[in-house]
Amino acid sequence: AWPIFRISILILIQMQLPPRPTLFDFHGVSMTRCFTDNWDNVQNFQARPDDILIATYPKGGTTWVSYILDQLYFGKMCPERQTSVPLHERVPFLEICIPSLPTGKDLADQLPTTPRLIKTHLPVQLVPKSFWEQNCRIVYVARNAKDSAVSYFHFGRMNHVQPEPGDWSTFLQNFIEGKMVFGPWYDHVNGWWKKKQAYSNLHYMFYEDLIEDSGREIDKLCSFLGLSPSPEEREKVITGSKFDNMKQNKMANFSSVPMMDQKVSPFMRKGKVGDWKNHFTVAQSEEFDEDYKRKMKDPTLKFRTDI
Ligand code: A3P
Repeated sequence: AWPIFRISILILIQMQLPPRPTLFDFHGVSMTRCFTDNWDNVQNFQARPDDILIATYPKGGTTWVSYILDQLYFGKMCPERQTSVPLHERVPFLEICIPSLPTGKDLADQLPTTPRLIKTHLPVQLVPKSFWEQNCRIVYVARNAKDSAVSYFHFGRMNHVQPEPGDWSTFLQNFIEGKMVFGPWYDHVNGWWKKKQAYSNLHYMFYEDLIEDSGREIDKLCSFLGLSPSPEEREKVITGSKFDNMKQNKMANFSSVPMMDQKVSPFMRKGKVGDWKNHFTVAQSEEFDEDYKRKMKDPTLKFRTDI
């Protein structure tokens, strides 16, 4: 009887999931409704001078850096929150708006702790103006295009808030053409890189560097934010934010989010640099590289795909 019961429950869950959304043009960027339905409120969001915005293109390492910052700020004061409060409540996703769930903007408004850590995937030109007016500190995390594409593909397979990704080659073509939620990866990383030249409160970091030496990157984050953790606290942050530890932590692995079917692909999937080699054919990689050269003209913005 158990298998039948389980299958019925699964069918029920599937039936309750909303249909996959479709992309549409929103101020020149491909978006879906759950990131635009609350737009007036998002645009009018009142940032505070001590707010910290964590900005990334999807799959760039948002969750990892959110977890690190939350531990750096609150790990000592309330260590229990790492195992009792889901990360998406501690670091609200500003623009998200899913029916019958609190909006990211409301969660951010209601955060009881200071500074407020707020996550966004918005391209730089769509960020609410109060963040600039208040001169907020911003941490941008970028990840190389090929691994971002692979990670985004698997995320699309498991997350019902994402459009149907199709097979890998269809998805990759759409990625190259920028037909992705939050628009083209290329515009996103370039736009934020350009902003960094003009806005000194922006720390631009790379997923690959975090993989190479998370301690070094955490030190850079601390110096940007003016934090000085003790050696024990620093070690705790490094250990707590290791991939395997976060994967096991129900408050960080999104296992409580009903829209994500972790049986299809876990949110904490591989956490590696270079998984693209397991997905791209030689021809796909060559075509991708050609297109990449045309779009990534700034020699000062360099990504590593193999470390
Ligand atoms: P993979 O799908 O390649 O495994 P985001 O949080 O921006 O959605 O990014 C998710 C990606 O970051 C996933 O990549 C996930 O596994 C990876 N990730 C999350 N936490 C990590 C950690 N502690 N170490 C390494 N990678 C991590």
